[in-house]
Amino acid sequence: MRLAVVGATGEVGRMMTRVLEEQKVKPSLIKFFSSKRSAGTELTFMGKSYYSEELVESSFDDLYDYALFSAGADVSRRFSPIAADKGTTVIDNSSAFRLTKEIPLVVPEINGGLLENYHGIVANPNCSTIQMVLSLQQVNNLYGLRTIVVSTYQAVSGAGRKGIEELDRQEKGLVPEASVFTRQIYRNVLPQIGEILDNGFSTEEMKMVLETRKIFDDEDISIWPTTIRVPVEYGHSESLYVETRKPFILEDLKRVIAASENVVLKDDIITPLEISGSDMTFVSRLRSFDGKRFLMWNIADNIRVGAATNAVRILLRHALLNRLS
Ligand SMILES: NC(=O)c1ccc[n+]([C@@H]2O[C@H](COP(=O)([O-])OP(=O)(O)OC[C@H]3O[C@@H](n4cnc5c(N)ncnc54)[C@H](OP(=O)(O)O)[C@@H]3O)[C@@H](O)[C@H]2O)c1
Repeated sequence: MRLAVVGATGEVGRMMTRVLEEQKVKPSLIKFFSSKRSAGTELTFMGKSYYSEELVESSFDDLYDYALFSAGADVSRRFSPIAADKGTTVIDNSSAFRLTKEIPLVVPEINGGLLENYHGIVANPNCSTIQMVLSLQQVNNLYGLRTIVVSTYQAVSGAGRKGIEELDRQEKGLVPEASVFTRQIYRNVLPQIGEILDNGFSTEEMKMVLETRKIFDDEDISIWPTTIRVPVEYGHSESLYVETRKPFILEDLKRVIAASENVVLKDDIITPLEISGSDMTFVSRLRSFDGKRFLMWNIADNIRVGAATNAVRILLRHALLNRLS
């Protein structure tokens, strides 16, 4: 298998490389790309040193089987069609193609079947959406989802390396001014992620609405998100209120969530510090008054579950379904 990692020096790119190693993917060729700024950065993969190369149009002449992109939407819009035209399956972490009708938006545990006989660009969903749909996958299958009201508590790493650096700088008292975030994030909570749109929702909130409906292939799910940035380094948390279409018995609901692929149900509370580095999505504080609606706390490592791990799971599922190794 021939692999390209684009955005290899970033938070998601570095983690994708680590997850590829952990999953024992053994490419016959692997190359790492970044912008000109960090071309030449040393990266290690399977104990061997590599140096990132500046991404240019001819970067895909090596005819890769897969290119994992995490360099932002503009880079994806410009370069991923070039790779796809050369026969490379692109797995794109950016928002560039997520809502394009003919491009599959994939969480393998839910709609991985879309990858069979598919070649071209595959979109990886937004981080807060992935962990939410993973927890609700079997609830949707068995009871149907009518309404989701969700408030997120999103880590600064969701804004990439520069988000972590801004929190670090403010913590050290070096530069209190905000540049990545709209206000100071240290000792604060910001009820805005992305731009605020004409309808009053933010771009991050609309991603949760539209991507969830696309992944579940159900335009009738009513989704009400408030996305919030908190001074946490890694791990997004979500508080969910969910109404189902069919009634449930709470003990059955617990069994259904606990049996969902790559989801762990905990009796105890669970916080971002405890789950950082895990590939699982954790649910706790599951509770209901009436068997028609329930509340839960949902948490996952945003760089792994919300980006790198899902991208590598897409690659592995695609390779399996299309007999590539
Ligand atoms: N962080 C998350 O939780 C998360 C979750 C899901 C999806 N995503 C998405 O993943 C993408 C990357 O996010 P990140 O958090 O990893 O950001 P990041 O830490 O800022 O890394 C960005 C990467 O993109 C590269 N890059 C920037 N401009 C480029 C260009 N013109 N040509 C080639 N490479 C370029 C950077 O290279 P240099 O080192 O040279 O600057 C770096 O490797 C974004 O689209 C983001 O929306 C992030």
